[in-house]
Amino acid sequence: MVSPELAQLHNSSPMAKPSLRNKASFSLADSFLFLSGAFVALLLVWSLSCFTGPSPNPDGIFGPLGLGGSQSKSSGDSLNCGGDVNRRYDPDETSFYDEPEMSYSIGKPVKNWDEKRREWLKQHPSFAAGARDRVLMLTGSQPSPCKNPIGDHLLLRFFKNKVDYCRIHGCDVFYNNALLHPQMGSYWAKLPVVRAAMLAHPEAEWIWWVDSDALITDMDFKLPLDRYNYKNHNLVVHGWAHLIYDDKSWTGLNAGVFLIRNCQWSMDLVDVWAGMGPQTPEYNKWGQILRSTFKDKLFPESDDQTGLIYLIYKEKSKWADKIYLEGEYYFEGYWHEIVGTLDNTTERYTDMEREDATLRRRHAEKVSERYGAYREERHLKDAGNGKGSWRRPFITHFTGCQPCSGNHNAMYPGNTCWDGMRKALNFADNQVLRNFGFMHPDPLDSSISSVPFDYPW
Ligand SMILES: *[C@@H]1O[C@H](CO)[C@@H](O)[C@H](O)[C@H]1NC(C)=O
Repeated sequence: MVSPELAQLHNSSPMAKPSLRNKASFSLADSFLFLSGAFVALLLVWSLSCFTGPSPNPDGIFGPLGLGGSQSKSSGDSLNCGGDVNRRYDPDETSFYDEPEMSYSIGKPVKNWDEKRREWLKQHPSFAAGARDRVLMLTGSQPSPCKNPIGDHLLLRFFKNKVDYCRIHGCDVFYNNALLHPQMGSYWAKLPVVRAAMLAHPEAEWIWWVDSDALITDMDFKLPLDRYNYKNHNLVVHGWAHLIYDDKSWTGLNAGVFLIRNCQWSMDLVDVWAGMGPQTPEYNKWGQILRSTFKDKLFPESDDQTGLIYLIYKEKSKWADKIYLEGEYYFEGYWHEIVGTLDNTTERYTDMEREDATLRRRHAEKVSERYGAYREERHLKDAGNGKGSWRRPFITHFTGCQPCSGNHNAMYPGNTCWDGMRKALNFADNQVLRNFGFMHPDPLDSSISSVPFDYPW
């Protein structure tokens, strides 16, 4: 619902008042001289503190690798600033990158990856610190324009959403729109990207694949990495064990979003998994095997999702034991069961903010995690998770909607897919825009209003 205050404010956004802006820039010019002097002074203090600041302390399992102090001293002007990573330091000692046989491509196995990665981290101590929780998000789309006239616009918004999340939580993000293996198109295209990204980013412990038609609808939620580290799980997918083992359903998990640990086990898994793909002579054989094992699979081609379920189902000790089937929250959730709940969730969250001044307090985007944690502790303890919960769903996945081609599943009538996407995208965008002073009052409309001080009241 649009509150009357917001609707009114919609017509008086500051951008419509040039006089106000001119006034602001005039006073800015006035104070420029003073500010630039102050800035130089600040810069001096800051650069000095870089040289005297503490070197980073490697944590947890990366402890023994930590060479923070000694390396920093020998590298002279490439010192770290206050625990930040050092992007200008790459020692002359050789690493796996110097091995001619090391290949980024599917089909050329990497051996001893754990050791190689550990060695690289040892050579790059500023990255070793904090490596345990470092996440690289991967996503992407096809190399050519979308057939759906609004497809590229939708994909841009889906991508913007992921960039927003990563900026707020400090993960890196890589968008790929090239086929890294020419024969591995559509749902197989992600495996070569994951494989190459593990080698390109040895500093990242986790690679987080998120399909182009999935978006983050809870900007506060943080991946519970401790849960996955605790028993050394190497792959996290949204899934349900009974659907895999009892029902033998190809929808027992969703392979559109997953976290995969940057380690040898994952290299091996990707090789075996990709071995069912269209680039192999076994492709047709795998199509038959998968279809005869999982009776609810309707199409004859071998696909990545059924392939992964097959590996879980067939090889428990090798694969299944290291795979965490996440079902406690929407690690990825079906949009059709989510979109209809977003209005009520918005109501609940707005009520929380009405009651609690801390949640209404304006703050820098960089410190939003503090407010997310506060909301969690004070207001979300018994919100539940997943289906039936009034918590914001973490990831909403528009499975079957095909934004780029526009060929959505015929079971969704008319505009349900596109309206659902607009609504979810604006729902997520509102959590971001809020820290910039604006919001979409109508979740189906891209227009915005400025947010008054101490809103909502
Ligand atoms: C939203 O809340 C209203 C009022 O509490 C309730 O009647 C309705 O069933 C809820 N809708 C959904 C989709 O949960």
